[in-house]
Amino acid sequence: MRGPHSRPQCTPAHQAGALLLVAVTSLLTRLLSAPAPPPPFPTPGPRLSAAADHLRVYVYAEDEVDGLRALLRGRDGSVSAATCLKGQWGTQVKIHQLLLRSRYRTLDKDEAHLFFVPSYVKCVRMTGGLTDKEINQTYVKVLGQMPYFRRSGGRDHIFVFPSGAGAHLFRSWATFLNRSIILTPEGDRTDKRGISAFNTWKDIIIPGNVDDSMVKPDARAVQPIPLMKRKYLANFLGRAQGKVGRLKLVELAKQYPDKLESPELKLSGPDKLGRVDYFKHLRNAKFCLAPRGESSWTLRFYESFFVECVPVLLSDEVELPFQNVIDYTEISIKWPSSKIGPELFQYLESIPEERIEEMLARGREVRCMWVYAQDTEPCSAMTAIMWELQRKVRRFHQSAETFWLHNRSIVNRDLVEFQQWGTPVPLP
Ligand SMILES: *[C@@H]1O[C@H](CO)[C@@H](O)[C@H](O)[C@H]1NC(C)=O
Ligand SMILES: *[C@@H]1O[C@H](CO)[C@@H](O)[C@H](O)[C@H]1NC(C)=O
Ligand SMILES: *[C@@H]1O[C@H](CO)[C@@H](O)[C@H](O)[C@H]1NC(C)=O
Repeated sequence: MRGPHSRPQCTPAHQAGALLLVAVTSLLTRLLSAPAPPPPFPTPGPRLSAAADHLRVYVYAEDEVDGLRALLRGRDGSVSAATCLKGQWGTQVKIHQLLLRSRYRTLDKDEAHLFFVPSYVKCVRMTGGLTDKEINQTYVKVLGQMPYFRRSGGRDHIFVFPSGAGAHLFRSWATFLNRSIILTPEGDRTDKRGISAFNTWKDIIIPGNVDDSMVKPDARAVQPIPLMKRKYLANFLGRAQGKVGRLKLVELAKQYPDKLESPELKLSGPDKLGRVDYFKHLRNAKFCLAPRGESSWTLRFYESFFVECVPVLLSDEVELPFQNVIDYTEISIKWPSSKIGPELFQYLESIPEERIEEMLARGREVRCMWVYAQDTEPCSAMTAIMWELQRKVRRFHQSAETFWLHNRSIVNRDLVEFQQWGTPVPLP
């Protein structure tokens, strides 16, 4: 760019003035340009802005706070991270492990913008490592020992809840975590609990954990097949679980066996459908139906991108990740669950092949955002999560328990300076 400072005949005074102008302008630009505008989609995924280079996340160590180890490994420490890493809830471990190796990690709490509280409670609960009651009590004990959590009322603290239950895994979440940043694939829990633990303003929807064997770009266990060769128009590969929409699909599969594949899935015993067989079925249709199950989100939505079928969401309340960069009309279809019936097939049959190919091509560009890889990757779930987290950073920390004085001291109600806050701090 040619500005006044690049003109050939300048006096030294001119030059000095111009330099100052440049300095001021660049300072102003920097001030005005934060936060950076969203990156253009989809080339090839969210980019972290320059401001993110300064993002610092502190990760609590498991022996730092009494009780944290139990939230990670169960009451007797016997639940292994390797076990919890597998399956659709593996995000609770993956995000923790990726943050430990992240370039945004800091070991200094005073430098941190955000604080990550690791916990594998979904897995620990499933494997009998803690009961619901113990989970609740352990969380309360853990939070009571964290002065930095109290300083912000939890506003700068991050928790992962990887399943459909969302933050409800911690029974008293509404009292203790209702200001914290919650990472969860589930944006809705209105079916069972009356209230959703997800808040679109502060929380972040994350993709489910797609099987590792399917996400490696050059070594996918099951490769997509050409559209022409697919046997079915659509499929639904899941259990009915007594859910209205799913029962309707099972019924429809009987009426239209050549259009919709929806086999009775054996999830145990000798005929159990293995992971590879599952994906081989999934790739055999143009559209992969993703109806609501126990809760709104479904892993099938994410899986469909790796066998390249167009996902059709049949889950009205669903929340989708990274909506600030992804245009879901380009890669998927959402159909009202009240209209699950023959009309759905008529509609799907009316979609031109070129449009299907277009959506699949777009999906190929976007699916890197469902892959839990390091945040140094130009496109990964972790990169996108860091990008979202960056926008949650607050310059200032406050809570109902903090006060501040003329000399910038943050103090508690008893005028004790923050650095002197002892533990345990009494809870609400
Ligand atoms: C969770 O634990 C806290 C502290 O022990 C207790 O006050 C609260 O009632 C518990 N919540 C539930 C739902 O049991
Ligand atoms: C959020 O937490 C605060 C502090 O514990 C509590 O007073 C408030 O009732 C909670 N809000 C909701 C919606 O539960
Ligand atoms: C700030 O002011 C308070 C009240 O006068 C005082 O107790 C405290 O030591 C001061 N803090 C610093 C860092 O100077």
